[in-house]
Amino acid sequence: MAHLHRIQFPPADGNELSQDEAFFYLVEEEGKRRLRFHDYDQIYLRPGLYEQIFYERLKCSSPQKVGELLRRTLEASDRAISELRVLDLGAGNGLMGEVLKNYGVARLIGVDIIQEAKVATFRDRPGIYDEYYVADFTDLSDDLIEEISDWSIDCLTSVAALGFGDIPTSAFLQAMRFVKTGGYVAFNIKETFLDESDTSGFSRFIRQLIWSEYLKVSHLERYQHRLSMEGTPLSYYALVGQKVAEIPDDFLEKHDIL
Ligand SMILES: C[S@@+](CC[C@H](N)C(=O)[O-])C[C@H]1O[C@@H](n2cnc3c(N)ncnc32)[C@H](O)[C@@H]1O
Repeated sequence: MAHLHRIQFPPADGNELSQDEAFFYLVEEEGKRRLRFHDYDQIYLRPGLYEQIFYERLKCSSPQKVGELLRRTLEASDRAISELRVLDLGAGNGLMGEVLKNYGVARLIGVDIIQEAKVATFRDRPGIYDEYYVADFTDLSDDLIEEISDWSIDCLTSVAALGFGDIPTSAFLQAMRFVKTGGYVAFNIKETFLDESDTSGFSRFIRQLIWSEYLKVSHLERYQHRLSMEGTPLSYYALVGQKVAEIPDDFLEKHDIL
C-alpha cells in the first residue's frame, strides 16, 4: 500500500516513553504537527494514518492473532464461528471488525468512546458492523443497555484497547455483562498485566478474572503485539475464554479494585 502520510518518529529514545506517551510528527502542508499515539481522534481523521503507523511501520499483528485464537477455540468446540454475535469493544476504525467479518460472524456490533472512530469506520470499512455505538461503558443509559442487550451478544472482543488509560476496568466488566453465559471473550493485554508485581487496578482485575469461577480460559498465548518506536518487540498475551457464570455486581469491591 502506498504511504499516504509523511510521518517522522522523534530523534529521542522512544523506549523511555510509556505507550500512552509515545508521539510522532506528522508533516502536512499546513506544517509539522506533534501527535501522541493515543490522539486517536486526530489519527482517525486522516484516512490510512492509523494503519500506516501501527500496522505497516510497527507491524501490529493483534487483530489477526486474537481472531485466529478465537477461530481455533470455536473449531475445537461444537459451535460455529459464523453463529457468533460479537460485541467489539474499542473497535476503533474497524480492523478487528474486518477480521471477524471475514470469519463470517452472524452479527457484529462495534463500540468506541469517540465519534471519530465511528466516522472513520464508516468511511474506510463501510458495511463491517451491523451497528456501531459511540458510548462510554462506564456510564450507559438504561435505554442503551436495553438496546445492546437486544443483540443477544455471545462473544466480546477487545483488541489493543485495554489498559494504558484506554478502556477502564468497569467498562470492560459492563461489556462482559452483555455476554450470555456460555459465550466467549477474546482480548489481548500487555504481558506485564499478568505479572504479580503490577499492582494497578486493571492488572489485578485481569488476574482475578482469569483465575475466577466466572471465566474458563481456553487459550492464553504470549506473542509479539507490535514493535516499539525503537524496534523493540512488545509482548502481549492473547486470551480466549468462555464466560461460565454471571459476574457479580460486587466483583470489583470484593477484590478491592477501584
Ligand atoms: C489502539 S485502538 C484499537 C482499535 C482496534 N481495536 C484495533 O485493533 O485496531 C484503541 C481504541 O480504544 C478506544 N477506547 C479508548 N477508551 C475507550 C473506552 N473507555 N471505551 C471504548 N473505547 C475506548 C479508542 O478510542 C481507540 O479507538
